[in-house]
Amino acid sequence: MKLLRAKDYNDMSREAAKLIAAQVILKENCVLGLATGSTPVGAYKQLIEWQKKGELTFAKTVTVNLDEYCGLPATHAQSYRSFMRENLFDRIDIRPENTHLPNGAAADPEAECAAYDARIEAFGGIDLQLLGIGHNGHIGFNEPDEHFTMPTHRVRLSADTRQANARFFEGDPSGVPEFAITMGMRHILQAKKILLVANGAQKLAVLDRALGGPVTPHLPASLLQLHNDLTVIVTE
Ligand code: PGA
Repeated sequence: MKLLRAKDYNDMSREAAKLIAAQVILKENCVLGLATGSTPVGAYKQLIEWQKKGELTFAKTVTVNLDEYCGLPATHAQSYRSFMRENLFDRIDIRPENTHLPNGAAADPEAECAAYDARIEAFGGIDLQLLGIGHNGHIGFNEPDEHFTMPTHRVRLSADTRQANARFFEGDPSGVPEFAITMGMRHILQAKKILLVANGAQKLAVLDRALGGPVTPHLPASLLQLHNDLTVIVTE
């Protein structure tokens, strides 16, 4: 594992954006695994700036996101599709048809999960997966559990996660969808490179436990200890 200590959020974002840009420049048709949440927004801003200046292009890049809420249509303001459009996709030169998220409104979520895994496999897997970490140690929406779930799956969001995300739903945890579809541990762990960003003391504490303690499904991020090309960028 490579640990980079950034001096603040801007520094973390810039370092993360550099690694993502390097991936896109090295392999223009790469598959980027992307994440939502507050933490990656600064890195996305930096990528937008560099793309606008013509320093890189996403014209051939394919993206697969980690997760999507169930029950929200893609056009809903709080869907992760809307988040990605607002914070990245609509502001760079990526082709919309090359951006993939699970369809949270699918009538048959199980079939949607299987189809999402098949799509990632058809792309040849993920070149670089960007991750945040939840206060409870989740990655994507792989919540603490008795076992690791390998395939993309429908998950009941924990009370912790719904509380943490209530800020996007007028502060009301009961407004946060109860279920989501998340990429499972298989495609996250099979990504050729993983880049995890964490900002703030609380995240640092959970990250310390995940990377310094035992590998356990009670702390899903702990499974990242088994990856051989993991870069972690934290703020001090
Ligand atoms: P955050 O979320 O970046 O908004 O803190 C991270 C996560 O829940 O994975």
